[in-house]
Amino acid sequence: EKGTYPYYMLKEIDEQPTVMRRIIQEYTDAIGDTMIDEKIVKKIIASDRIYVVACGTSYNAGWVGKALLEKMTNIPVEVHLSSEFGYNMPLLSEKPFFIFLSQSGETADSRQVLVQLNELGLPSLTLTNVAGSTLSREADYTLLLHAGPEIAVASTKAYTAQIAVLAVLAKAVGDSKKNQSSLKFDLAHELSVIAAVMETIIDEKMSISQLVEEYLSTTRNAFYIGRGVDYFVSMEASLKLKEISYIQAEGFAAGELKHGTIALIEEGTPVLGVITDRKTAAHTRGNLKEVESRGAHNFVISLGSLSKETDQLIIPDVHPLLTPLVSIIPTQLIAYFATLQRGYDVDKPRNLAKSVTVE
Ligand code: F6R
Repeated sequence: EKGTYPYYMLKEIDEQPTVMRRIIQEYTDAIGDTMIDEKIVKKIIASDRIYVVACGTSYNAGWVGKALLEKMTNIPVEVHLSSEFGYNMPLLSEKPFFIFLSQSGETADSRQVLVQLNELGLPSLTLTNVAGSTLSREADYTLLLHAGPEIAVASTKAYTAQIAVLAVLAKAVGDSKKNQSSLKFDLAHELSVIAAVMETIIDEKMSISQLVEEYLSTTRNAFYIGRGVDYFVSMEASLKLKEISYIQAEGFAAGELKHGTIALIEEGTPVLGVITDRKTAAHTRGNLKEVESRGAHNFVISLGSLSKETDQLIIPDVHPLLTPLVSIIPTQLIAYFATLQRGYDVDKPRNLAKSVTVE
């Protein structure tokens, strides 16, 4: 039930701190060690490459998961769209391990890949929000997201839950391999910090609503830009914005703009920069300057320690590997308010279904 909330999407955005705390409870013990089925950990350690297969928002979460998994486990990770992978399967490594990400567990594009892999006898794990769903039953292993039912078509809490559970899985494998970067990573603590920071951002929703009025109320298009994980967040932020507000929004790797996309910048085009990565912050700021000098209306979302006073939204610092869990929150609220202000149905965008059961 959505209770006092006007829309499920807002309720589900608000639930994310609770979901983070539930994931800590379900997947870590009192001293912060991870609790993941040993059989899954062993299978992953025995593999030489992890293939993440998913669609839409789950696919976007997969890219953030890749960064976490590679850092913690030292196993190379590839991320693929189900609808492409099934018909144009890449050359597989000798010992592949497959991770399916699916909120609903019913996505047909992902299922047809799993059916093929099962015929080949290859090992698979599904991360899903729905116990007993098709992708859960047909994979060798399942990890539940524990996000609670997601009703709004635009996925929000499933995205952050997928990233958090992938972080737990990455740490479980990394710890088991005795990798220093993993052993040093106090994930349970960092996720509890994340939950608190999510709350502070959600509390600022009315100022986000005002910024949306200023930047996005009449525009036909908008761009999100970032590098590394900020690029992955830009992809998800733009999907959220376009699917419910119908603003033509695209996420781009900030450094790639000058290789073509910058031609689209006109007087007043909103460009939303995401800056949470110390290594690339200066470069992304350079790219923002380039678009500003061509008329862009820049909107910067930055991490406290990397922020400038002129930035529109400043997010408290969190562990560098987990910044997408907090930088995505304002972008969900941006999509929500842009849709409200334009007068569309937030929970039921045109042409879309919650679970996509055709290929
Ligand atoms: C976007 C959205 C879709 C789904 C995609 C995959 O907000 O909801 O892009 O993420 O259809 O769905 P699942 O995760 O159920 O496989």
